[in-house]
Order: sequence, then structure tokens, then C-alpha cells
Amino acid sequence: MNCGDYYIGIGEKKMARPIEYTREELIEILQGVGVDRLSKRYFDSCKNLPGSATIIRKFGGWNKALEEAGIMQGIRTGRKPNSKRFCSEQQYLDDFVFFSKEYMYDYHKNHSDEQCIKELIIPFIKFLYEYVARYGWIYPVKTKINEWCDLIRKLKKMDGNLSSGTWSGNSEIKRYFSSFWDAKLNCFGESPIKLFYDEKLLIRFLKYRFGISNGKKYNYVFGGNKVETNELFDISFKQVRRAFEVNHYTVSVFKPLLAKWVYTKYGFDGMTTWDPCAGFAGRLLGFIASFDNGKYIGTDPNTKLCSELSCLVGDLNLGERVEIINSMMENFNISDVDLVFTCPPYFNTEIYCDEETQSSVKYSDKDAWDNGFLKTLLIKSYDSLKVGGKCIIMFDGKNSSLCQCMAAEVGFKFVEVVTVKNRKTHFTKKTNYEFILVFER
Ligand SMILES: C[S@@+](CC[C@H](N)C(=O)[O-])C[C@H]1O[C@@H](n2cnc3c(N)ncnc32)[C@H](O)[C@@H]1O
Repeated sequence: MNCGDYYIGIGEKKMARPIEYTREELIEILQGVGVDRLSKRYFDSCKNLPGSATIIRKFGGWNKALEEAGIMQGIRTGRKPNSKRFCSEQQYLDDFVFFSKEYMYDYHKNHSDEQCIKELIIPFIKFLYEYVARYGWIYPVKTKINEWCDLIRKLKKMDGNLSSGTWSGNSEIKRYFSSFWDAKLNCFGESPIKLFYDEKLLIRFLKYRFGISNGKKYNYVFGGNKVETNELFDISFKQVRRAFEVNHYTVSVFKPLLAKWVYTKYGFDGMTTWDPCAGFAGRLLGFIASFDNGKYIGTDPNTKLCSELSCLVGDLNLGERVEIINSMMENFNISDVDLVFTCPPYFNTEIYCDEETQSSVKYSDKDAWDNGFLKTLLIKSYDSLKVGGKCIIMFDGKNSSLCQCMAAEVGFKFVEVVTVKNRKTHFTKKTNYEFILVFER
């Protein structure tokens, strides 16, 4: 399949070089474009400017590029004020801005927070409920083939990375897999799609998005003037979903560059790898980005997720290198595998769907899960591997010691544990750790 200047899939080859900008050229462009146009959206919409991805790739981040160009960091540009009109009988694009940052800035100048909730947030929520009743849930717009190709091209150029800060592929994955939005964290009881109807929760989430907070102040340029105020957002459907993400009401997704780090450290070009709990394609993408040859076989019992994975494989013409099987790993048999690499469910921390084949549904308590699911995962992995083949399992702190003991019982040699530190954000104040457990047959 032709993705601009690349072919993705078997026998990938580079057809033509894209225009390569030097750092100096990019700095000059950034400095010349004008402070109120310094947005990724603006760069992506102008044909005569380099895309934001080019700039990010060159400098390692958008803000880093601005910093290097000597443009004040933290400046966020505004948009023309939007009127607050919306109508549930009309369909809107996902990025349609109902309330712009600039509109909200002006509104807060002469309205109280209570007025903002009563006059803007509550009517907006009422509109959202009517809109969803008419048109269905506000899933994101599916990632397009050329966006996947751009991502894969970018991942191929980047080194694998253990750092949780490097999050290439996050947006593409979350936009492609609607099954991601159906999944829930056990501690919150319901998925974002259901919790969306919890009006109190939605008000709480939207308050911050509508500029009501006591937190850190941000700089913006509105109408050519620099102002300092609460963080503001252009309110669109995307921002409603984003509120669930930043508050950690969505399940985790495996980072493709972390997968690339594992595949390139423990695997080799041409290998066959089995991913018993395939999930949302983070490892699949990491594998494709690591090697030009070899095969990835992924099993997962989640029917909707598997059909989305299969569509992705079809869309990207990866059928000869990737096989997706809609099955519990317990029922799957394979041999002569070079590397097993997976990130299983952490018992019932995240619930991906309600099907009986899900390990958290099949094994109702932790003991049954340990002896039924975890033990079987290790036995199946051992049996699938060639002698000398590695089995790599990413686990949380609660499960990793038990996994190591069980791996030894099954016959695995212990190789090492690599700690992955998950970054603190201003929403999750504490750092947490996950562990990459490496065993050998
Ligand atoms: C999503 S991953 C979790 C790790 C990480 N969030 C990720 O994206 O890779 C866990 C996957 O295990 C799958 N799963 C649940 N029960 C399973 C079973 N019996 N056999 C294989 N996979 C299973 C779930 O459907 C889910 O997709």
C-alpha cells in the first residue's frame, strides 16, 4: 500500500525522500510565523509550512522546538470567540469548537464560576445527552490509513524507549479502537461511555475544561495581548472525552516505543513472536516498527477488539506479517515461537468487556485467576517457545513476584527484571512502577 513516500507491509521500501528541513530552517520558520499562529493545528493546515510532526521529530517535542527557537514557553494562542450556540438536531464535527478559549477568557471576566456552571456547563451537558441519544456516543473519528502510515514511519525512525514520557501512537490507538472507550477500570465500575451519564461527574470534569480551577496559571495570547489565566480549552467533543482520559477513567494502552525497546533488545529481525493477550495494538505496532521481517501472532478473546485489530491489519496490508486470532490464550496452541511478549490483564484492575472468555469473568477470584489464568499463561508460553526462546511479561507490582515463582515452577530460567517508572502527572500525584519480567526456556 502506498503511504505517500513509503510502502508499509511486506518488502517495505522507501520510494522518495520527503523534504528534510534543517533545525536552523525550522527555527527560522517558527520565529517568522507570528506568535498567534504558533499552533500545531496551524502548521498542519498550511501546505507551505512543515507539518507539526516534522518539527516534533526534529526537536523531540513541540514545546522543545519553541524553546529552542527562543519563543516564550507556555504561550498558548487563542481563537476568535465562538458563540455558545448548539443544537442537538444538527450534527457537528468532532473538533467543532462550541466554546473557544478566547470566548471563555472573556466570559470569566464578568461572570462567576456559579454562572459558568449554570449558563454554560449544564446546558452544554443537556445538549450532549440529547445529541448522543440522537446520533450515538461521541466516539473519536477513526484514525485514517495515512495517519497510521505516518505513525509507523515515525516509530521506525525512533529508538525504542523505556520512558513513559515517550507516547507516540497514543492518539492513533485511542481514535481507532472504539473498544477502548467501552473498557472500564474496576475501581470506577463503569466505562467512560456509561459514566458520561453521571451528570455530577461530568460537571466536575467539565469545570476544569471550562476554566474553573484554582491550579496553575497559563499564558495565552488573545487579540495580540498576552494574558495569564486558568488553563483553557477549545471545547469540542474531543475535550469531553479528554476529561475522562486525564482523570484516568480510561484503561491503559501499551506504548509502541516501549514494545520496540523490548523487541529490539530481546528479539531479532525475522523472528516469530506470540502475544497471548494482544490488547490495543501497542505491541503489534512496536513489532512492525522494529523489524522488516518476521511474524507477530496475537490472540485476544475480546470479540470487538479483535475485529478492530483485524481491520487494522487489513487497512495496513500487514496480513503476511500479522495474524490476529480471536481466542483465549488458554485455547490456543502454537510451537516454534522465538519470543513470547505480552501484557496480560492485572486480574480485574481493568475490565475490557463482559464476555465469559475474559479472564476476569472466567475466574471470579484472585486465587482462581492465579492458578487458572496466570499459571496457564506461563505453561502455554513455555510450550510455545523454542529452547532458548524468551518469554517477556509486563506486570504490576502486585503480580510480578508470584509470576516469577510460577515461571520457575513451569521450568523457565529467570533472566532479569526491568523496572518501568510511570511518570507522575498533575492528576496522578504518585509515581507507579511496572515490571518487565524476562524468562528463558
Ligand atoms: C489490554 S491488555 C492489558 C495491557 C495493556 N493495557 C495493553 O494494551 O496491552 C489485556 C488484554 O488481555 C485480554 N484478555 C482477557 N482475558 C484473556 C484470556 N483469557 N486470554 C487472552 N487474553 C485475554 C483482554 O481482552 C485485553 O485485551
